[in-house]
Amino acid sequence: MTAQRGGFSTRIGFILAAAGSAVGLGNIWKFPFEVGKGGGAAFVVMYLAFCFILCFPVMVAEISIGRKTQLNPVGAFKSLGYKRWSIIGYLGLASGILILSFYNVVAAWAFGYFIDILNGQFSVGGEAFGAYTADWIKIGGYAVIFMIGTAFVVSKGISGGIEKAAKILMPTLFIMILGLIVYAMTLPNAMEGLKFYLVPEFSEITGPVVYSALGQAFFSLSLGMGALITYGSYVAKDNNIVSSAASITLVDVGVAVLAGFMIFPFVFSQGIEPNGGPGLIFATLPGVFQSLGDVLGIVVGALFFLLLSFAAFTSTISLLEVPTAYVVDEHKVSRTKACWGVAIAIFVVGIPSLLSYGASESLGEFIQLPGTDNPMPFLDFVGVIANDTFLPLGGFLIAVFTIYVWRKENFNKELAEGDAEIKGSWLQSYVNFALSYICPILLGVIFIVTVFDKFFGVKLMSMLLG
Ligand code: PHE
Repeated sequence: MTAQRGGFSTRIGFILAAAGSAVGLGNIWKFPFEVGKGGGAAFVVMYLAFCFILCFPVMVAEISIGRKTQLNPVGAFKSLGYKRWSIIGYLGLASGILILSFYNVVAAWAFGYFIDILNGQFSVGGEAFGAYTADWIKIGGYAVIFMIGTAFVVSKGISGGIEKAAKILMPTLFIMILGLIVYAMTLPNAMEGLKFYLVPEFSEITGPVVYSALGQAFFSLSLGMGALITYGSYVAKDNNIVSSAASITLVDVGVAVLAGFMIFPFVFSQGIEPNGGPGLIFATLPGVFQSLGDVLGIVVGALFFLLLSFAAFTSTISLLEVPTAYVVDEHKVSRTKACWGVAIAIFVVGIPSLLSYGASESLGEFIQLPGTDNPMPFLDFVGVIANDTFLPLGGFLIAVFTIYVWRKENFNKELAEGDAEIKGSWLQSYVNFALSYICPILLGVIFIVTVFDKFFGVKLMSMLLG
């Protein structure tokens, strides 16, 4: 590890930082509404299976590439001697920039709700949520604050910034979730909520459900854009990659599952149907909190949105770290300059997303994708490009690269560093097998299905699976 780049000072610091990247809006905002849309427990089962079968091996591959090369995603492929494959790194940079550009806006919504609720203001229902997001000056202000906080942590480096933040925020987040779950369980109808969440109706598993569970698993684990190549590049050689990846996956999945234990009792306690889509958190939950009465409502509601902000924050940190590491490594710019410069640029890229929820009509109805009934906002469109299209493509290329280009032997050699027992184990065989066949096939299919679905309006998945 070169002195200038820095690195994680402890193994647990790395695990918490990577888990912090993984645990985010994806777990607490997106997971519950996907579960709601996908028919409840059946979706949860698919999601869990994909996390372990498909995502865990890709995570191991990403961390290994990072640790082997001790470089950012673009530099990593170059330094292994495969200049052309650094296209994966560039794709990752583009994904990171695009995701952060709108993710920061959604994080700003959450942070703004926290502040509002502290002041006794609840935006209840879809209309109030719409009015709230339309106030672009206010949201813009929160978005500036969120980006400044993110850049501040990243500017402090790995052990002094990212690791330190994760060591404080992740345990706090965990305690807040547990507290909210305990409270949620005392609400009327909590059991109805749990039933919906935990008892699978396997008839609900249709093509689109499988497909969104796959996408959700991948996004939730921060894969496919080199975030874990970057974090892996700060990991010491005596670190056990496979067991670290297992811990990161477990924490991420654990938090997503726990988020359901908190949210479904909340939602059912008001007799609301959980299939409200993206508004489930921002439009529905404030009403639930308000109904708890003045003091309790403010405490529980503020706690919930603070939790959401913390979760988002450790993810925005990792999203900013990817392009920052690229500029530092490849262009020899100081970390401070690189990270503030990149943060400003990404903020600017995010302005159309900021304006697309109510402030500007043309950005709000930015594009109508073939086969859909309504035009979608700019923010959602960036999500389609980056989350739905680029990430699976990146994951596909990483799996193919690791096994067929870098080669299995070299990959396994890297795994064996810091892990005396991995050689010849079933775990290594499984990771090898998954990266050779399962990951390229599944990720290749989801990429193709997405392109046909989103850009040509052809529903391959429904045609295949009904
Ligand atoms: N995993 C994060 C979440 O669940 C999002 C993310 C994706 C972060 C890719 C970094 C890289 O919210």
